[in-house]
Amino acid sequence: MKILVTGGAGFIGGNFCHYMVDKYPSYQIVVVDALTYAGNLHTLTPIKDKQNFKFYKGDITDRSFILDLFEKEKFDIVINFAAESHVDRSIENPELFLKTNILGTQVLMDASLKFKVKRFHQVSTDEVYGDLPLDKPELLFSETNPLQTSSPYSASKASADLLVHAYIRTFGLPATISRCSNNYGPYQFPEKLIPLMIKKALNNENLPVYGNGLNVRDWLHVYDHCTAIDLIVHKGKIGDVYNIGGNNERTNIDVVKTILKEVGKPESLIEYVTDRKGHDLRYAIDPTKIEKELGWKPVYNFDEGIKQTIKWNIDNQEWIHNVISGEYLRFMKENYKKY
Ligand SMILES: NC(=O)c1ccc[n+]([C@@H]2O[C@H](COP(=O)([O-])OP(=O)(O)OC[C@H]3O[C@@H](n4cnc5c(N)ncnc54)[C@H](O)[C@@H]3O)[C@@H](O)[C@H]2O)c1
Repeated sequence: MKILVTGGAGFIGGNFCHYMVDKYPSYQIVVVDALTYAGNLHTLTPIKDKQNFKFYKGDITDRSFILDLFEKEKFDIVINFAAESHVDRSIENPELFLKTNILGTQVLMDASLKFKVKRFHQVSTDEVYGDLPLDKPELLFSETNPLQTSSPYSASKASADLLVHAYIRTFGLPATISRCSNNYGPYQFPEKLIPLMIKKALNNENLPVYGNGLNVRDWLHVYDHCTAIDLIVHKGKIGDVYNIGGNNERTNIDVVKTILKEVGKPESLIEYVTDRKGHDLRYAIDPTKIEKELGWKPVYNFDEGIKQTIKWNIDNQEWIHNVISGEYLRFMKENYKKY
């Protein structure tokens, strides 16, 4: 079995590669990643010399590169993690999000059809459903909720989902889609809430919290996202959407206070800043379908997972320093000349 993992040098794709290379020694795991600011080869260092792992630097929007690669490698399964993924950046520069997240997905689906890939899986997000009110905790996103996006990021992901449905119906692409809640865990780029707050707390800097901090996110450990995708690509029903979430709703301010407490820093470091434009109030996933149909169950609870993630960030200061400094560029040149 040969699996293409796009965006495998990013946070979730990287964790997924670690998981798959270990779990399936007889599979070939092949990564394509454009190595944007969010892609980081240091994340793949622990598996880069494994027999069943290969890396290509390349852009999913580059049609001729992708078609040549598919012809050469003959993938059985394609899993598309590659994306521009940061909401704030999508507000600054929507165009890049449309290009990578929509057109890149189309290129991959065209190649999958041409080379008769057995399964195409689109890694989507719960943000395609928009948001839920804060005062109705009983409401959850199910797979049949309408797509109602708030940011250029979520609109680009929803557009890609619609395109996947169209390719299933019109061209018979054997595809599935998963929509996951907010992830946390090792190797997350320190611009996202949890690693950013850990970094700032460790450096005694102010921790900027949007608005009143009461926006709610449903946190899932990245490991549990990986086990869900593994199940979907092996057992999920073609044409179906699967929500993935761990029933771990927390307000942003609670998450920030947990981090401060864990690293022994005062709450006076919290600084409330002007709210994000179009900021979604609450996300909450109903994962009943994947639990019942595929037997998926998350193994992490948030209290334990956040402690481990804080420890990982403390123990891996070098990784963090490298991904945000010019050192990373030097490393790439020296260690990955062949790419
Ligand atoms: N992080 C979350 O909480 C979360 C939750 C649900 C779904 N998702 C989805 O999961 C996927 C992965 O998210 P992440 O947090 O790991 O993102 P990330 O930003 O950490 O990683 C994205 C990766 O894609 C690569 N990439 C970007 N543009 C590319 C292109 N044109 N060609 C090839 N590679 C390209 C980057 O270099 C990077 O390695 C995304 O599709 C995202 O929408 C993320």
